[in-house]
Amino acid sequence: MPTAAIIGGGVIGSAWASRFLLNGWEVRFHDPAPNSDVVLNKVLDKARRWVPEVYDQLPPEGALTLCESIADAVTGADWVQESTPERLEIKQSVLAEIQASCAADAIVASSTSGFMPSELQAGSERPEQILVAHPYNPVYLLPIVEVVPSAVVPEETVQRAEALLSDIGMRPITLRAEIPAHVGDRLLEAVWREALWLIKDGVATTEQIDDLMTHGFGLRWAQKGLFETYRTAGGEAGMKHFLEQFGPCLQWPWTKLTDVSDLDDALINRIVEQSDEQAAGRSVSELEEERDANLVAMLKALRQEDTAAGAFLNRLGTSSG
Ligand SMILES: NC(=O)c1ccc[n+]([C@@H]2O[C@H](COP(=O)([O-])OP(=O)(O)OC[C@H]3O[C@@H](n4cnc5c(N)ncnc54)[C@H](O)[C@@H]3O)[C@@H](O)[C@H]2O)c1
Repeated sequence: MPTAAIIGGGVIGSAWASRFLLNGWEVRFHDPAPNSDVVLNKVLDKARRWVPEVYDQLPPEGALTLCESIADAVTGADWVQESTPERLEIKQSVLAEIQASCAADAIVASSTSGFMPSELQAGSERPEQILVAHPYNPVYLLPIVEVVPSAVVPEETVQRAEALLSDIGMRPITLRAEIPAHVGDRLLEAVWREALWLIKDGVATTEQIDDLMTHGFGLRWAQKGLFETYRTAGGEAGMKHFLEQFGPCLQWPWTKLTDVSDLDDALINRIVEQSDEQAAGRSVSELEEERDANLVAMLKALRQEDTAAGAFLNRLGTSSG
């Protein structure tokens, strides 16, 4: 059985561990926090409940080993997934410890949301072994993962990373260049910046903004993305017509995207208050439960239509991959 070492087992590391386990890999897990096994088991329970609803043809679950040290966890591992806090000095020191014990041909991947692989590789003895594999939460359900190599990572390593990620039911998107925050988070950050302005300026509440997404363009994005949505918005004439019609709007003052609102206490308090009101007493765990049930329902519907992520799931395990 292939073996994954999970280094750092919070929200993301525990979900990576769950995905590997449910896809039949052996998992060696290391996190120094005293309650890390509790966090892991909670996430694993959710994954065990939901993953079989979406992914059929799952192999028998792999074996889990909790390890006292990084060295213990990474020795003999085929894949090492680093998911420690988003601080460069922590990541660089953990990566050095990983490389002191892991095999030279293991893939060492980081979950970092923001750092470029060349930043993670700085000072490393084997920089060519390190790349970014950036997932989306919940990692055990969402198939997408951004693979970001730097110029020193050989093509063969990138292809092996893509193949191993496909083996655990993921759809790797390998970026053509490394940039801070990769691609997905750059897009999310642009929406987030604009939302902060809209709340600060008193234009809309957190609930109104969320409703605009969940009852409107969020549903479109889940199955047609951005560009195909705009293509259809251009009517039969398609994207060209869309760009001709709406291109000039980019010069109008519709957006503050180049300017970042000051996230001062007043704005933070306003967002937190509105968000609390919106949650209406529901715990994070209850919200996660709703989220997972919705995602499963959407993925099942997308599978039935054989489209977008559903088409991907339908082809898992077939020759067209
Ligand atoms: N939360 C998200 O939605 C999300 C999504 C994609 C990627 N990421 C990235 O994943 C990484 C982890 O984020 P998270 O949200 O899981 O954070 P988290 O705070 O939930 O988990 C971090 C874990 O790392 C552990 N840790 C700290 N020092 C360690 C060390 N020296 N060795 C091993 N473990 C150590 C902590 O005990 C903790 O359990 C970050 O790089 C983040 O950018 C997060």
